[in-house]
Amino acid sequence: MSVCVRDAAQVLRPPSDGLAYLRHDRAGELRLDGGALTAADGRIAAFEADASAAIRVDGSGCAVVPGFVDAHTHLPFAGWRAGEYAQKVAGVPYEQISRAGGGIAASARAFAEATDDAVLAQAQALAGEMLEHGTTTFECKSGYGLSVDAELRALRLAGRLGEQTAQGTTSTALLAHAVPPGHDADSWMDAVEAMLPRVRSRTRAGALDIYVESVAFTNEHLARMGDLAQSSGLALRCHVEQFATHRSVPVALAHGARSVDHLACLHPDDVAPLAAAECAAVLLPGAELLGAEHAAPARALADAGAIAVLATDANPGTSPVVSLPLVIGIAVRRYGWSVREALLAATLNAAWVLGRSDAVGSLEVGKQADFLLLDGPVEHIPYRFGHNPVAAVFVAGHLVHVRPDAAWRIGGTA
Ligand code: NIG
Ligand code: FE
Repeated sequence: MSVCVRDAAQVLRPPSDGLAYLRHDRAGELRLDGGALTAADGRIAAFEADASAAIRVDGSGCAVVPGFVDAHTHLPFAGWRAGEYAQKVAGVPYEQISRAGGGIAASARAFAEATDDAVLAQAQALAGEMLEHGTTTFECKSGYGLSVDAELRALRLAGRLGEQTAQGTTSTALLAHAVPPGHDADSWMDAVEAMLPRVRSRTRAGALDIYVESVAFTNEHLARMGDLAQSSGLALRCHVEQFATHRSVPVALAHGARSVDHLACLHPDDVAPLAAAECAAVLLPGAELLGAEHAAPARALADAGAIAVLATDANPGTSPVVSLPLVIGIAVRRYGWSVREALLAATLNAAWVLGRSDAVGSLEVGKQADFLLLDGPVEHIPYRFGHNPVAAVFVAGHLVHVRPDAAWRIGGTA
């Protein structure tokens, strides 16, 4: 099966092939020339038109970009928490909602009460929505289990979700999200350590994650999670500096973290060391906006050459958002980023965080043919804020979604 997009107004390509990531001070080197893309047998074959391709796509006026990679989501989860959002916009802080039994604990109760089928049905619907918005690879996290058995259940369901969706997925064991009932933070970390062999043998989790905050865990627990990640051969990721400054980033860097996520309250002294490290700064502007959080110092991080990433943080509490085009729009407006910076953060660098940038995240000959046809130039993604620019989605060279108004562009035997 082969597919060819011809006459595209823009084709987003990296400055050179084989990059695992591109530091953000080089985002301006991303190429956006017009042209064609041909894929065969699931891989990108050439940046030339092939008139004999089985599927032929008229790309006139359109941009072709890599499928978006959402490197931070909390799928699968059960239900929503719209009531909390109403409280937040009325000025009630997250910490207060959390201490009153809302927040993560509320979603853990909903997860415990929902059947596997119900959890999977909700997650599949969200994955479908993500696909329509161009996400072709995404991360799943556990974290709403809050017991050993329930965290393993969440990871098992994440694995099943990955088998059922058109997208590629990865799993992260967010084993320290909130302190479970009946535990203190230390005793729960003992339980986490004890369950790791089962996480390794029974799930496909590739990373560990922890939430450092006054209502959750401390930097000491982060250091311990870092040691556990290292000894079990898993990547370390962490939710840090979201609502207050705890100086968690130096701890994460000392433990070789793959990413530090949120960073709305990043200490200014930690910008340069983070930017110099081989550790991604995962920024979540949806959570920032909806939670009235500070804006992460994204301009400074990009200028200093960080490996910056944008993600939805899709979750029922802080960011019930699944659209990366929307997140790109918020980032460009809120961070003062260029559209190239935002696209780099939602594609190649995001794929690196998930350990997948050898296969996806950029348009290069030989990589998996995950790409999007956008209904206009890339500059329209942030500019037409709230509009979904994704006209068609290809995963491994297969057309997996086409918007009805773009169907006329697809010819051949799709
Ligand atoms: O990424 N901050 C911690 N974890 C999630 C929120 C979880 C929730 O409120 O359900 C986050 O923002
Ligand atoms: Fe999160």
